[in-house]
Order: sequence, then C-alpha cells, then structure tokens
Amino acid sequence: MNKDINGIKKRALDQINGAKDEGQLEKIRIKFLGKKSQLSKIITEIPSLDKQQKKLIGKIANQAKRQIENLIVQKNKNFINQKSYNLPTIDLTKPGAGVKYGHLHPITLVLDEIYQIFANLGFAIIDGPEIENDWYNFEALNLPVDHPARDMQDTFYLIEQQGSRPMIPRTHTSGMQVRFMEKNKPPFKIIVPGKVFRNENEDATHSWIFTQIEGLAVSENVSLADMKGTLLKIMQGLMGKNAEIRLRPSYFPYTEPSVEIDTLYKGKWLELAGAGMVHPQVLENSGVDSNKYRGFAFGLGAERIAIAKYGISDLRNLWRPKLEYLEQF
Ligand code: FA5
Repeated sequence: MNKDINGIKKRALDQINGAKDEGQLEKIRIKFLGKKSQLSKIITEIPSLDKQQKKLIGKIANQAKRQIENLIVQKNKNFINQKSYNLPTIDLTKPGAGVKYGHLHPITLVLDEIYQIFANLGFAIIDGPEIENDWYNFEALNLPVDHPARDMQDTFYLIEQQGSRPMIPRTHTSGMQVRFMEKNKPPFKIIVPGKVFRNENEDATHSWIFTQIEGLAVSENVSLADMKGTLLKIMQGLMGKNAEIRLRPSYFPYTEPSVEIDTLYKGKWLELAGAGMVHPQVLENSGVDSNKYRGFAFGLGAERIAIAKYGISDLRNLWRPKLEYLEQF
C-alpha cells in the first residue's frame, strides 16, 4: 500500500508538472483526487487496517494528498499569472499621440464677442424664458390676437391647457423688454440673448430656430441716434473699422418709429436686426412712465452676423450636427 501511494504520488506530480493549461490540470485533479481515484479508495480503506498500519498509511496517504493538492494550486496560479502577462500592456514611456480638442460652436463664438462689446458699452446681459405666454410675446407688445402683424412671425403653439391660452416657444426675444421693465426702474441698458422659434419656410438666410439678441436702453433722453451709434460700434467691433450699417424704415407695432438695420456684406445689404424707439404704450404696459422715459430697442440675428463674419453661405448649417462643417471655424 505504501508503494502504491508513492507510485500514485509520483505519477500525479509528473502529470501536474506537464499540464499545458487549466483544463488539463482539472482533469488530472479529478483523476488523482476525485472520489473514484485510487488515492481516495485507499483513504476510505484506512479505517479497516490494523492500528499500526492505520497510523502509517494514514500519514503517508494524507501527505501525498496534500502534496498533490499544493502542486495543483501552485500550477493553477502559474496559469493565471501567465494569462495576465498575455494581456495588452500599457507602455508608460511611449510618447503621447496628440489629443483631439473640440472647439466652441460658431454661434457661441459670435455671442462671446458680442457680449464683450456690449459689456464694454455698459450693457448688462440678461436671460429670459424660451417658452413664453401670449401676453409677453404678443399682447403687451401691441399685438392683440387678431392683429395682422402676428403673421410676420409664424408661430408654433404648445398643446393648450384647459381654460388657458397655449404657451408659445417664443418667436422673438422682445417679450423680455416687458418682463424686465416690470421689475426694474430706468435708466438701464440690457441685452437679452437667446433662442427663438418660428414656423418658417426655411432658406439660406432663414432657419426655424435661430438666436436673437434683444437690446433695450431706457432713460430720460435716449434717442434713435444713440441706437444707430451703438449698433455701428457693435458691427465695427465684430467686423472691423470699415463695417457699415444702414437704417431702413419699417414697421413693428411695439416701436415708433421702426427700422430695419442692414450691414454691407459682399457688396449687398444683409438684414441684421429689427429696431426702433419703444412705443409709449409698451412702456405703460410695463409700468414705466412714458411721459418721463424713452427707450430704444432692437432684435439682432446672431446667425446673420455669423454669415457676415465667417462668410457662411447657408445659416441652416449652423443648426445641423455636421462636424466636418462646424470644424472649419
Ligand atoms: C423681430 O423679431 C423683432 N422682435 C425685432 C425688434 C426688436 C424690433 C425690438 C423692434 C424692437 P424680425 O422678425 O425682423 O424682428 O427679426 C429680427 C432679426 O432676426 C432679423 O433681422 C434677422 O437678423 C433675424 N431673423 C429673423 N428671422 C430669422 C430666421 N428665420 N432665421 C435666422 N435669422 C432670422
């Protein structure tokens, strides 16, 4: 029995050392340590041996079992270590391959420049809601429900809540004139940048979503000449000293007089903004004494400025997720 055990042990250790992978090792384990193995059989017979044999064979058999087990554990560890050595390694000494940076969107670039110039002229930058109600977007600006001028801005409507007028993705930023004047006493100068939404027939200079920069200056003696000077300064700051603007008569129910502001771009006049002197009724609707105060207001289109600044041929591309296009700026 003693000899048998030593023979089993030798064969087991040889085969374990020669195992090529974990699968083979498991088979060897079952063969030499499994319930049906020779060694297990010997161990189950030990209790029937005489006292002396029991002690001797018991000791040798258990030692053999432990040695086989230990070698299996060791060999398994080797396989695991080998596996992790075969993993792709990170070479910490390798020189960097360069990082691809993103950049700001052209509209953000234009807005940042515009903020800087307006801030230098003493304008505060104010935020306003993109979803507006009928009063601020239209009625407070002299645009009652049946006013034909509402057609100038094709409107999207949100689903109507019972008993209330539908809310509107704002068609322009002008509602913020009223919101701001309700809460702030003149004199002040503000701009309100933000997205606006119109159910437009789109073309190269019209998108259904675009960015406006509302301007509003209210004091006791502000004039249309101040507005022209302000907008000329802005365009010269953005486009260089030779930038030109012109005022063209127009109509908005919330300004009197009203003008469009164009800039000369590639030999043609490009419309940049609607503007005018704030209508006295709008001052009154906002709680400002129209006998004491006057204001000028304008609504600049940021995408139109981007056209002039970057030579963009179709402003709709600014609202499309085309990376190759946007990466040019
Ligand atoms: C307005 O939205 C007036 N609220 C502007 C205003 C403000 C007048 C304060 C008086 C006092 P208008 O619809 O013209 O006006 O739009 C103003 C500017 O937004 C345009 O001059 C143009 O630069 C830009 N714009 C208008 N529609 C689009 C469009 N669909 N896509 C891109 N830019 C547009």
